[in-house]
Amino acid sequence: MAKRVPFVCGNWKMHHGVEATRKQVRALVEGIGRLQGKVEVAVAPVATTLFAACEVARGSPVKIAAQNVHWAEKGAFTGEWSVAHLVELGVTHAICGHSERRALFGDDDTTVPKRVRAALDGGLVPIACVGESLKEREESRTAQVVGRQTEAILEIVKPDEVERLVLAYEPVWAIGTGKNATPTQAQEVHAQIRALLAKRFGAKAELVRLQYGGSVKPDNAAELLREPDVDGALVGGASLEAPSLLAIGEGGMQRA
Ligand code: 13P
Repeated sequence: MAKRVPFVCGNWKMHHGVEATRKQVRALVEGIGRLQGKVEVAVAPVATTLFAACEVARGSPVKIAAQNVHWAEKGAFTGEWSVAHLVELGVTHAICGHSERRALFGDDDTTVPKRVRAALDGGLVPIACVGESLKEREESRTAQVVGRQTEAILEIVKPDEVERLVLAYEPVWAIGTGKNATPTQAQEVHAQIRALLAKRFGAKAELVRLQYGGSVKPDNAAELLREPDVDGALVGGASLEAPSLLAIGEGGMQRA
């Protein structure tokens, strides 16, 4: 099996302002030593703090991600920002299609792939999110929903760029609920996503990192990241304090 470098990313959603962002990014930069070269670490702060976050992280292994990105280069898109705006700051990753964007801000299987396409074109690593709601899981529609969302994204990815893509499986019922998917549940969906990748991209499917997200914490990270297709985590609440995100990263050390 190809060696995939484990990748944990904190999603700070609409939390830390500039001061707190500077403090937490600095703590990540200072604390990442033991993970360096073994586990990749990124954080996605609030958009208004990206400049400060990039300033603090510059020259360090800590990567800065945006929580969203628009597909157009520029234009009349109030409240959005382009890949170029992010690259100019030093941002290297962009979350695309988080379930909160899908549920609250109209992102769907048309717009999410456009965001992913723009990120790939502009040299950002897209972290493309998929995941089913509680109702969909209860109706045994997980494979169908995740399959549809994943296919919509894979459709626009070219074979020579697929290894840059990161996919995050985030079951909506596990987000912010304290009720994480069990390692077996996560692995089952990740294996399905890997199979879809393999169908389109053959052996290159083994190079794509699949993150799990939904109530990941320091005390459940290791067991989730022990699963063969769980290559990292996209972390909300437990990423807000740097030591906690780094402890989750430690959970990936066993794969390194
Ligand atoms: P929690 O870790 O707070 O459940 O959030 C997960 C998430 O949405 C990360 O993108």
